[in-house]
Amino acid sequence: VTVYVPLDAAAIALGADEVADAIRKEAAARGKDVKIIRNGSRGMVWLEPLVEVVTDAGRVAFGPVSAGDVSSLFDAGFLTGGDHALNLGLTGEIPFLKRQTRLTFARCGIIDPHSLEDYEAHGGLTGLRNALKMPRADIIQQVTDSGLRGRGGAGFPTGVKWKTVHDAPSSEKYIVCNADEGDSGTFADRMIMEGDPFVLIEGMAIAAIAVGAEHGYVYTRSEYPHAIKAMNDAIGIARKAGLLGPSVLGSGYAFDMEVRVGAGAYVCGEETSLLNSLEGKRGVVRSKPPLPALEGFLGKPTVVNNVISLTSVPVILDKGAAFYRDFGMGRSHGTIPIQIAGNVKYGGLFETAFGLSLGEIVDDIGGGTATGRPVRAVQVGGPLGAYFPRDLFDTPFDYEAFAARDGLIGHAGVVVFDDTVDMLKQARFAFEFCAVESCGKCTPCRIGSTRGVETLDKLKAGIEPEKQIELASDLCNTMKFGSLCALGGFTPYPVMSAITHFPEDFKPAPMAQA
Ligand code: NAI
Ligand code: SF4
Repeated sequence: VTVYVPLDAAAIALGADEVADAIRKEAAARGKDVKIIRNGSRGMVWLEPLVEVVTDAGRVAFGPVSAGDVSSLFDAGFLTGGDHALNLGLTGEIPFLKRQTRLTFARCGIIDPHSLEDYEAHGGLTGLRNALKMPRADIIQQVTDSGLRGRGGAGFPTGVKWKTVHDAPSSEKYIVCNADEGDSGTFADRMIMEGDPFVLIEGMAIAAIAVGAEHGYVYTRSEYPHAIKAMNDAIGIARKAGLLGPSVLGSGYAFDMEVRVGAGAYVCGEETSLLNSLEGKRGVVRSKPPLPALEGFLGKPTVVNNVISLTSVPVILDKGAAFYRDFGMGRSHGTIPIQIAGNVKYGGLFETAFGLSLGEIVDDIGGGTATGRPVRAVQVGGPLGAYFPRDLFDTPFDYEAFAARDGLIGHAGVVVFDDTVDMLKQARFAFEFCAVESCGKCTPCRIGSTRGVETLDKLKAGIEPEKQIELASDLCNTMKFGSLCALGGFTPYPVMSAITHFPEDFKPAPMAQA
């Protein structure tokens, strides 16, 4: 009997290793022949560790399983999908999973991340094989026509970026994958690297062939040890299989890649700071222009793409640009892995076409708060994203729709807060976060963030409150337009959205009665 137990970091944090161990021991004690495969996560974090058993009817899920449950699972005949309080039925029928459109995460949680055969058996490498038969310009055209936009957060058209690198005159070009996922509440990059690492290798190989690069880097953070191991293991397997090396799948194109680990500074997710760190320098932001597409790693033309942008490419080259483009709304084509986190009942990764409303995501899919209290605020797009009140829950998940309401979808992290949240505290946190993470290169961010904290502290202390709000708004304006990068430039989003949508939290506390 084949049993799947996730090796995903979230599942491990919740006891997956102990569960795998307990299943192994229990099976041995009972003389049962059990093969345990460590898979990626299905993304339903509240059900982790989610154990699956392969039965004649399909994969049956049990969760959340603890090591202490294992003996009773065996008693209930779980190896044949037996009845048990933790039996969730067929995995594919769980509503949270069934409602998704999984294009990028199609294999995540299904395959064995250590098996290139399993990857191929589930459609892997078809996109790359198609690309290898196409002229470079046609690969780029496919990516452009698909409408794919940068999933790191900025939403810049991926095909246009690739064309810039392709057209840049240089004999040396690079592919850099930005896997320095620093946004609060986000884990899509980590989850796919742990659960389906070959899709990132395939996406990077396609990018390399399209622009004429022979070397790639995955830049990630030391806080992601499981993803680092998964990628390194997969790169080793890919090299042995001839997927990476002097002749990719025997095509004559050379491409190899490696993982580089940063120390986890938020600003090293900013592409120029990332490139400095990758070159062994301090992670300080570089001025743009020149764009990395023209002068990137070691001053050479470089594609810097987020993990999800690159892992979305294989399906485009497999199924065609029109197939991918058909999903979504407006100028937001394809699917987006929304990461639902914070105080929420059903937290996890939900891949879907653009266009769901924020309300559907939070109330319906996320099931409201874990505490059962009313949802008061939702921060979308990481620590630099705006706080949305319930009044704006009709906003569709789409780059332009969020921008029109002074927000951003960023890397698609959604963090839910209940009615006990103190929005003045959250606004102060945004300034504080910026002060801690600032690279220090420009004044509005380096100094503005600290002055921002002081201003909100004065407001809280009741010192000339109206003046403090005016000062904070003025400061935000300077930071927005005067900062060199998004860290200082976007800190005004959480601050101003909190002030605008939750003004009652910025009123001084009533004086105690004498
Ligand atoms: P940006 O808008 O300056 O650039 C977007 C991308 O397009 C960059 O790679 C840039 O080099 C490229 N680009 C722009 N014009 C180009 C052209 N003409 N030809 C070729 N390439 C071109 O945005 P930036 O500063 O790179 O990113 C900001 C975003 O990062 C924010 O929207 C935020 O949501 C997101 N973010 C994501 C985080 C995460 O953990 N994933 C963390 C922090 C911020
Ligand atoms: Fe550095 Fe902040 Fe300026 Fe960005 S905005 S360059 S992080 S000081």
